[in-house]
Amino acid sequence: MNEGGRGRDTGGTGGGAPGGLIRDTGGIGGGAPDDRGRTLWHGRFREGPAEALLAFTTSLHFDRRLAGDDITGSRAHVQMLAKVGLLTGDEAAMIAAALDRVGVEIETGSFESLPSDEDIHTAIERRVTELAGVVGGKLHTGRSRNDQVALDLRLYVRREGLFLSRCMLALAATLVRRAREAGDAYLPGYTHLQRAQNVLLSHHLLAHFWALDRDLDRLLAALERADVSPLGAGALGGSSLPLDPDHVASALGFGRRFQNSLDAVSDRDFVAEMLFVCALSQVHLSRMGEEVVLWSTEEFGFLHLADEYSTGSSMLPHKKNPDIAELARGKAGRLIGHLTGFLATLKGLPLAYNRDLQEDKEPLFDAFDTLSLALLALDGLLSTATFDVERMRLAADEPIVAATDLAEDLVRRGTPFREAHAAVGALARQSIERGIPIEELVMTEPDLGPDLLGIFEPGASLRNRRSAGGSGPLAVREQLEQAAARLTHWGGILGGDD
Ligand code: ARG
Repeated sequence: MNEGGRGRDTGGTGGGAPGGLIRDTGGIGGGAPDDRGRTLWHGRFREGPAEALLAFTTSLHFDRRLAGDDITGSRAHVQMLAKVGLLTGDEAAMIAAALDRVGVEIETGSFESLPSDEDIHTAIERRVTELAGVVGGKLHTGRSRNDQVALDLRLYVRREGLFLSRCMLALAATLVRRAREAGDAYLPGYTHLQRAQNVLLSHHLLAHFWALDRDLDRLLAALERADVSPLGAGALGGSSLPLDPDHVASALGFGRRFQNSLDAVSDRDFVAEMLFVCALSQVHLSRMGEEVVLWSTEEFGFLHLADEYSTGSSMLPHKKNPDIAELARGKAGRLIGHLTGFLATLKGLPLAYNRDLQEDKEPLFDAFDTLSLALLALDGLLSTATFDVERMRLAADEPIVAATDLAEDLVRRGTPFREAHAAVGALARQSIERGIPIEELVMTEPDLGPDLLGIFEPGASLRNRRSAGGSGPLAVREQLEQAAARLTHWGGILGGDD
């Protein structure tokens, strides 16, 4: 299909709209209006549709992405119609051959749409009828675009959802690899963006891994809930024809069919869920992106980006910018907008299908596209970036960062934690106010003394860390094993790398 297919005249079959005001909104191929350009509902109408109506209501410029799914769904529908005796074997074969031909035309870009093709479903059915003759008119037997479009979108979600989950897995695997490579490198951990307690770099990277692990889990669970075939619901109430929705459901590889035809054509929970999954995952990437931006500043200096994954400035010759990380952050706003916008679209809708539901596609397509591109770009960025572990170590060996570990040393000697906290807090204040290193104050303090100084040795605070799930070396080694096991688990399900 001609994806860029601009140049379609959206008007022309009807009258009424002020000429020249309707702009080209893009679509498949070209094609002047002619007598083939009848609407699907022409029987009921004396007049053709107005130019302004077509321009406003068309969805062909975005739902052409469903062309392959539409053909897949129609093939299963035709097979079912033949099975229940609504089509003869010959009729089914003729329609199937026409569907194949349309598939080829779309793939090779020779498919031409007409102004009256308001969406991809109309366009394909029209072309099938042109190719197969009158028998093509039987394709839509027992079917409505309402169940058809719901089906197509679920097929799309299944297909693209799998791709998206593989992109997530790729980044998750990179985080685990980089965490393993990080060895015993450490840096200050932050709360309120103030140095708080040292953590292993591997621990920090794995924190981002676990967020992605939950994203994957959420995505696959949402895909499982979306695994319902709506075909056979008809416009809203089923059909008097002997359709077999179970047959199409299993022919298309769905786990189950709908239970309620009204629900089948109006349910877009699966779209809303996907938008949430995408929005939250993009929020995770945004937070990762924010750290990449911070860490690659000269002020932090913890991370150096590879040239291939950095951008320059058009005016400032020395600049090397983390644009991928910034866009990972920026695009989270857009995906949150898709989720909230679509929930607003759904909120007031009565049962069953309403044209408002056509608004499900653009946010969904964009959310999938945006998130998968962000995952791939961040994966490349993280795979090629260099951690400046020396800069990290220098920042982390600032003695004051060991304050909590010092208080815990006092706790080990029997001091109640509140008292220890107050005592070390007072030392920190004195150190800052009098400009004396905290180690010197510890040495001279009567209740403390030199045997507490070990905590200020480089890396000592981390070596002492021992609680499960914490940033101590043993706990992180265990955590790395758990993370690797998760990758193997996802790899087994998705057949991707682990
Ligand atoms: N383009 C429409 C959509 O995306 C298809 C269904 C139209 N159905 C109808 N009864 N007008 O939702």
